[in-house]
Amino acid sequence: MPRVLSGIQPTGDMHVGNYLGAVRRWVEDQDRQDALYCVVDLHALTAEFDDTTLATRTRETAMLLMAAGLDPDRCTLFVQSHVPAHTELTWILNCVATFGELRRMTQFKEKGKGQESVSVGLFDYPVLMVSDILMYEADEVPIGDDQRQHLELARDIATRFNRRFGDTFVVPKATYPEVGARVMDLQTPMAKMSKSAESANGVVLLLDPPEAISKKIKAAVTDSGTDILHDRDTKAGVSNLIEIYAAATGSSIPKVEAEFEGQGYGAFKSSVAEAVVELLTPLQRRYGELERDPAEVDRLLGLGAAKARALADPVLDRARRAIGLLPPTA
Ligand code: TYM
Repeated sequence: MPRVLSGIQPTGDMHVGNYLGAVRRWVEDQDRQDALYCVVDLHALTAEFDDTTLATRTRETAMLLMAAGLDPDRCTLFVQSHVPAHTELTWILNCVATFGELRRMTQFKEKGKGQESVSVGLFDYPVLMVSDILMYEADEVPIGDDQRQHLELARDIATRFNRRFGDTFVVPKATYPEVGARVMDLQTPMAKMSKSAESANGVVLLLDPPEAISKKIKAAVTDSGTDILHDRDTKAGVSNLIEIYAAATGSSIPKVEAEFEGQGYGAFKSSVAEAVVELLTPLQRRYGELERDPAEVDRLLGLGAAKARALADPVLDRARRAIGLLPPTA
């Protein structure tokens, strides 16, 4: 049975892109042996962040994951900074990763664009992510398309480390959903839906009230045509809605095209809005229940961190030995 690991940042609010691209599959996969899911709070330090809300956001992200269906009894749900081994392994892997390969990371280039100065953390971010993955000997990493390059880096670093210092890490494989791997912004359908989007209207948040969800989807940018056909190059807006509908209802792109053949954009958008509201309503209800007991959420995260530490420590020890550090005596 493969081990599965993935992570999400507690920055901004979670949106349907996160859900359809990644989180929904985490819920489906959690019964696989040792599935681990991590709220990566240390990653959130790499760009602008608010120190007065970081802890609350971290808890809220964990609550959203639980509301989406992650059950801390069936998987390991934890907060990255509660397992110090991640940062130590990052240092070791920093000395295996190269400046050249990190400089090529698209996300670093995008996030750093136009900034007067960026933190070393932002540059090093992919190595922290590689540590998250290699730390738990993950075979599979369910992610959206935007994390593809980081996963390639994890594979390269694991392979390089193993070749130089002996077999130490599992070389992980990324997995993507059939539809929904790259949900686009509703207002700017050539750009991915993102927590840091300029306009809130293009992003459907998991906790948006039903009326707001409908409004955003009905106002989605389309094109001057009338056909519900999938073509990302010429019909980016409609294609995105087709994918969202297919992912939300468990259908496929050709089936959605057939279902809405001959119908106009207006009717189609109403159906997409309805499907998304239906998808998110149970999650929103569960979130409301969890919100009443934050101490219980923290307790569950404490148990998750203990489980994660028990798995991480032996792997870190193996990596320390592999590179020849003097083991401490008891
Ligand atoms: P993050 O927090 O940006 O996103 C969490 C997950 O959501 C996916 N995603 C999307 N999928 C489809 N369409 C979109 N518009 C969309 N936007 C985001 C992301 O691909 C991701 O799977 N660096 C990672 C977090 C991370 C991680 C890890 C992931 C840290 N360590 C270890 C896997 C394994 C990130 O910033 O994801």
